Amino acid sequence: MNGIKLRGTGSCLPSRILTNGDLARRVDTTDEWITTRTGIRERRVCTGETHSGLCTAAARTALKRAGVTPGEVGVCIVATMTADAVIPSAACTLQKTLGLPADTLCFDLNAACSGFLYALHTMECLLAAAPRKFGLVVGCDVLSRVVDWSDRSTCILFGDGAGAAVVEWRAAWPSIGAVLGCHGNTELLYCPGPGSRDDPYLSMEGQKVFKFALEAVPWCMDRVLERHGLTAEDVDVFVFHQANARIIDLVAKKYRIPAEKYYKNIECRGNTSAASIPIALSELEAAGRLPDGSRALLVGFGGGLTWGGALIEIGRNV
Ligand code: UT7
Repeated sequence: MNGIKLRGTGSCLPSRILTNGDLARRVDTTDEWITTRTGIRERRVCTGETHSGLCTAAARTALKRAGVTPGEVGVCIVATMTADAVIPSAACTLQKTLGLPADTLCFDLNAACSGFLYALHTMECLLAAAPRKFGLVVGCDVLSRVVDWSDRSTCILFGDGAGAAVVEWRAAWPSIGAVLGCHGNTELLYCPGPGSRDDPYLSMEGQKVFKFALEAVPWCMDRVLERHGLTAEDVDVFVFHQANARIIDLVAKKYRIPAEKYYKNIECRGNTSAASIPIALSELEAAGRLPDGSRALLVGFGGGLTWGGALIEIGRNV
């Protein structure tokens, strides 16, 4: 025993909507191809907005919904691979914009699209030793900065955005029982860093990553349910990384999850990488679909190839 519960969430999206029609005017694609293969109709992309601005707005909403002040936060982690700067980290910038106390642990973490799950687990471990027992976990990516806008196989997939979660740690609470892992794959999903001489764009072997996702998601679900001694029926809501509507639908079908128990926003958000799960949680909370005491099973997967799953309880009025 000792773990975290989800206290409040928030999200922030850039205002510019990029439709499939807009993309069909740039590359050799069609609305029909994108919709059928991915479920995406539109996505948001940054024009004037910054990564830091998205993180700050999402975090402020999460803190407000949680009823927690910046001064009560002990750890701040931002899961991202597209921060405004390498130094300072997005989390350090967030410390400044939110006014988090000087002894708050602030750092970024990169596990690509699994980043939010890696960050939640790290948060649970660190809060046990932190000066204050509230933690701020943000997932934010601005993939429009690293997408090759002439590559039709990737540019149609991604969107920008940020999602945030405020969690609380208590010794009497059960752990989220996270399962995390990585295949050490350096080829299927690649995006060079500032020190690389490669073209500065993200590239992906989509079909192979799709196959990996169809193995990773059920594996994570089974392990998480096993750890908690639960079955899929005991879960109130399933939130999967929003990479492709077909992946989500196939998993839902395999586990016979009714439509009202899983969430899909990929149609209008695209794949927002580390932000996709916290954005989904924030939209669920806004819709009243995360009642106090309910349990959400989260699964992420992505570059690395990484994966992560966890079961988190909503603990708002405790
Ligand atoms: O968040 C990180 C994790 N990422 C994922 O989970 C992504 C997983 N992968 C996918 O979602 C899918 O593999 C994609 C949506 C990326 C691609 O769908 P697919 O059904 O696997 O298509 P494909 O890559 O096998 O391509 C099929 C055909 C190819 O043409 P040929 O070789 O059959 O003539 C592609 O060149 O579709 C072509 N194609 C396109 N056609 C029109 C690829 N992109 C496009 C496009 N518009 N945008």
